[in-house]
Amino acid sequence: MLSLQTRSIIKSTVPVLAEHGTAITTVFYKNMFEAHPELLNIFNHANQKKGRQQAALANTVYAAAVHIDNLEAILPAVVQIANKHVSLGVKPEHYPIVGEYLLKAIKEVLGDAATDDIINAWAEAYGVIADAFIGVEHKMYEEAEAQENGWKFFKDFIVARKVKESENITSFYLKPADGSNVPTYQPGQYISVRLSIPGEKYLFNRQYSLSQAAKPDEFRISVKREADNDPNGRVSVYLHEEVNIGDAIEVSAPAGEFVLDAGKKSPVAFVSGGVGITPMMSMFETVATLTPERPTAFLHAARNESLHAFDQDIQKYAASMENAAYKTLYSDQPDGYITREVLKEMVDVTGDVYVCGPVPFMEQMIQELRGLGMAEEQIHFEFFGPAVALQTV
Ligand code: HEM
Repeated sequence: MLSLQTRSIIKSTVPVLAEHGTAITTVFYKNMFEAHPELLNIFNHANQKKGRQQAALANTVYAAAVHIDNLEAILPAVVQIANKHVSLGVKPEHYPIVGEYLLKAIKEVLGDAATDDIINAWAEAYGVIADAFIGVEHKMYEEAEAQENGWKFFKDFIVARKVKESENITSFYLKPADGSNVPTYQPGQYISVRLSIPGEKYLFNRQYSLSQAAKPDEFRISVKREADNDPNGRVSVYLHEEVNIGDAIEVSAPAGEFVLDAGKKSPVAFVSGGVGITPMMSMFETVATLTPERPTAFLHAARNESLHAFDQDIQKYAASMENAAYKTLYSDQPDGYITREVLKEMVDVTGDVYVCGPVPFMEQMIQELRGLGMAEEQIHFEFFGPAVALQTV
């Protein structure tokens, strides 16, 4: 339990830290990676280069500190981040390193304003927050390992098949190298793949949604090839161009909280943009298989026909269901956008809706769905990539 004095220091300094957020996080990452370059095997180098991820970690520490008396209140956020951490193999021994360099960065940026009392209070608060994460993550690792065919950290898989789904999306079917089966997972969950790319000093990690319903012996991911000159495209270009049938890649166990409640029978709608279609494929196939009577809508936005993946698969599942509607709009065409009218026509607002795609797309969709009267608990969404703040209010 933090002392009253510590808590009041924390609360009064949160705004100061938040104000210097960018400076603190920049110094933090730079110094931490200089002292611990091995952490670049875990962190996304492209995010670091683009400065995108920088703010998320420190901002979450500040946000958590505000709720330090009642960390339960932010448990959902902790669990979501912990899923990401576990998928990437973050370990308890990493926390003191992050804590040390975050505190040093606060001190460096604030200078004399960072008194010993302030630094000590933040050290204490960071300890409490880190313990909360370590506890949640420990439990997740244990559960992943205890699951049938489960494991923790990374395991070798072999590419069993490679299938082109559209001009820029290719599916990779992955089987455990040891010939074992895979654990079951919830539709919507993702895995991390870890790659050693020739000529690169550090390992690359990326999360990909599992893009088919759970199967006993394989995973499937469907990867969009990014542009050659996009630092964030290093992995996708390598997978598309260099990784072939029979090649080994490391994979972590399924994780993530953006999941279909497969037990429900009430109406459900899937709304995706671009490669945001991947978790929807897993969800839609699950509904088609387990609850084909469930009223279901699949609404997709693609740029044009050649970039439109899984069209035939969706049509096939929809045809096998009792009450499924499917519509795709091409943004290259006039009126090719998912508007409120289109949502109104397709989405039963008494049910659940799952949204996935680029941030502006999701912001727009969520806003429109709210406009149609859907409540927060009916709208489920996830954005791929660093947790940037969604502007949805
Ligand atoms: C991602 C918070 C400790 C490694 C994140 C994200 C947040 C966060 C908010 C973004 C989540 C998302 O993208 O969905 C925190 C907090 C920590 C902490 C509050 C301490 C209390 C650590 C530690 C490590 C770590 C100790 C390991 C050294 C990562 C990595 C990512 C991540 C690798 C993925 C993003 C990237 O690759 O740049 N963390 N984190 N974090 N965190 Fe942490």
